[in-house]
Amino acid sequence: MSGVHKISMIGAGNVGATAGQKIAERDITDELVFVDVVDGLPQGRALDMMESAPVEGFNTKISGSSDFSAIAGSEIIVVTAGLARKPGMTRSDLLDKNAAIISSVSESIRKHAPDSIVVVVTNPMDIMTYLLFRKTGFPGSRVIGMAGVLDTSRFRTFVSMATNAYPSQVSAFVLGGHGPSMVPVISSSSVGGVPLTRLLDMEKIEEIVKRTRMGGDEIVNFLKTGSAFYAPASSIYEMVQSIALDEKRILPCSAHIDGEYGISDIYTGVPVVLGRKGVEKIIELSITEEETESLRKSAENVRIDVQLLTEHKFL
Ligand code: NAI
Ligand code: 2OP
Repeated sequence: MSGVHKISMIGAGNVGATAGQKIAERDITDELVFVDVVDGLPQGRALDMMESAPVEGFNTKISGSSDFSAIAGSEIIVVTAGLARKPGMTRSDLLDKNAAIISSVSESIRKHAPDSIVVVVTNPMDIMTYLLFRKTGFPGSRVIGMAGVLDTSRFRTFVSMATNAYPSQVSAFVLGGHGPSMVPVISSSSVGGVPLTRLLDMEKIEEIVKRTRMGGDEIVNFLKTGSAFYAPASSIYEMVQSIALDEKRILPCSAHIDGEYGISDIYTGVPVVLGRKGVEKIIELSITEEETESLRKSAENVRIDVQLLTEHKFL
């Protein structure tokens, strides 16, 4: 498969622009469209990126607009529109402001790109993904949240730092919600096929788990005026590539769970097969009792936020 015809990036800020650049440079779509409410921003980002094509050697046609009808005909849409966290702000502080943005973005997607597959990035991500799923009325297979790849990449990075292993040799899965209740699955973590527990003692592993859970905050505390975007953009790219090229990679993503792991009608991070139809399968790993319990608790936290959305009349 040679890719798709059109991908749209809603939100041309740090995450959107950086992910967009990767998508454009790797020629997996004929057309890439940026849409943002700040007039001039998507147009400027698009033209600037287009002007790198001769040097980088890609042929993706990039455009920008503040008119949402520009997304018409997109096969894949990535939603990064919204506010980013500032120091001291939790993901949940963002809930109301970003829920209003996601509600209006959902309406535009439903109207202009009813057949698209949507990757949601905006925080608090699991709940925003659920909101977009409900507001568009799309099947769960076509609405997917990004964070598991990022959280797993952070975990893999910290393991690689601790073991001196080549980063991509570290295999792991971080499941559950994108927040302090995320669930790094130690039982299926390994380096070059060697179980992690053979390479590091539990104290060190616990330290890595803790650092992973606070991975987003660690970057916010350094940057002070915004949040991470390089690793998030790489993570978005891996998901988009798997969908556009129908690679059927197994990746940890926030997916609509209805029965798997004993959890019903909620979004949380689980391993899924990602292909041209979106989530083509949810994989049920044989994880420990303790990990299953943590995954359920993490999903319940998302359910509490859904309740808040209902109280605040977003649902
Ligand atoms: P940013 O502030 O650089 O960019 C956000 C962009 O969204 C701005 O350009 C803004 O004008 C635009 N925007 C606001 N309302 C809009 C609307 N209704 N329609 C279209 N565009 C709109 O923020 P950044 O760093 O790009 O982060 C974006 C979002 O992604 C934040 O909510 C952040 O918390 C989240 N995030 C999530 C991650 C994850 O793992 N799920 C990782 C990193 C960021
Ligand atoms: C992160 O984990 C801000 O959620 C974002 O970096």
